[in-house]
Amino acid sequence: MPSFNRIAVYGHRGWASSAIVDALIASGAPLKVLYRHDSDVSRLPDDLPKVAVDLDDEEALIGALEDVDILISLVGHEGVIKQYNFIRAIPKTNVKLFVPSDLGYRVDEEMATIPVLKAKAEVEKASKDAGIPTTVVLPGNLAESTFDSLLLGIDVGGNRIVYTGDSEHQKMNICTRKYIAAAYAAIFTKTPISQLQNRSIGLSEFIVTGSDVAAALERKHGTPPQIFRASVERVTKEIEARLQKDDVSAISLAYRLPWATGKHLELVGTDVWDVAGYQKTTLDKVVVEGDLEPFKAFPPQFAALMETTFF
Ligand SMILES: NC(=O)c1ccc[n+]([C@@H]2O[C@H](COP(=O)([O-])OP(=O)(O)OC[C@H]3O[C@@H](n4cnc5c(N)ncnc54)[C@H](OP(=O)(O)O)[C@@H]3O)[C@@H](O)[C@H]2O)c1
Repeated sequence: MPSFNRIAVYGHRGWASSAIVDALIASGAPLKVLYRHDSDVSRLPDDLPKVAVDLDDEEALIGALEDVDILISLVGHEGVIKQYNFIRAIPKTNVKLFVPSDLGYRVDEEMATIPVLKAKAEVEKASKDAGIPTTVVLPGNLAESTFDSLLLGIDVGGNRIVYTGDSEHQKMNICTRKYIAAAYAAIFTKTPISQLQNRSIGLSEFIVTGSDVAAALERKHGTPPQIFRASVERVTKEIEARLQKDDVSAISLAYRLPWATGKHLELVGTDVWDVAGYQKTTLDKVVVEGDLEPFKAFPPQFAALMETTFF
């Protein structure tokens, strides 16, 4: 039996990250949570090793990474650039693999107009340029953000859908938070690290086209959904206008573009890890049966904007 890798995680408390941390804990792998001093760690088991560390304190960070094989960062958007501290510290440690925070898909030229996505891609490149074996996990879109918010233009409760560009016929790759969490545990706890280094590991729980979603909405409601259309040009203009105003909601529209242009699966990639023995969910379970965990709440202004954009 392969032995466990020793893992450190940073960013334990987020909506997506907390599920991943729970799955890593349940795996029984030697795990250490690194956290910033004012973070709340009360949810974590008492016997789980935890180290408060200021990421700007390189000496402390190097100390916290002692006896660690894999550093998994799950930091949220505000902390993406803090990951340069890891890149500076790792070469002075025995860490053999860095997994920067991503949980999306490859950032192409269009997506790179969104500052936080560009910053994530730059962190990955800087890590590789520093000679650190670096691997990202790319699940595409989360089922919860796709079907329990209006981010992608799908309104399950209201029986409405916006087709952006050609999203009616193009495919989108989707994973639930639970599947991603199970995948992190399956991938990182026991696989020999030499087999994990420098990969872009895609995850795929189910794949849908816009017309698949519309058909599922009809099965749920008994009547066809109200269909709206927005061209790629119109969405791109709207993104540019929001970026000019430093409006962070630009990102929510940008998420629609890879689906609209048929690039979504390509940006998840072909190195797809299938979690052995996992009972994957389906579009019908999620949309028709409503078997889905809630997505995190948006600020009210943001939610109101999503309600009206392109509907
Ligand atoms: N593809 C999708 O649909 C999708 C959906 C959701 C999330 N994601 C991605 O998943 C990853 C994790 O997101 P999340 O929503 O779970 O996380 P989150 O709630 O935004 O934050 C996770 C952790 O980051 C830490 N953090 C936040 N800002 C920081 C800063 N300025 N300095 C240092 N630490 C900071 C927080 O520390 P504290 O504990 O100290 O607060 C928290 O533990 C992100 O890369 C996000 O983009 C993708």
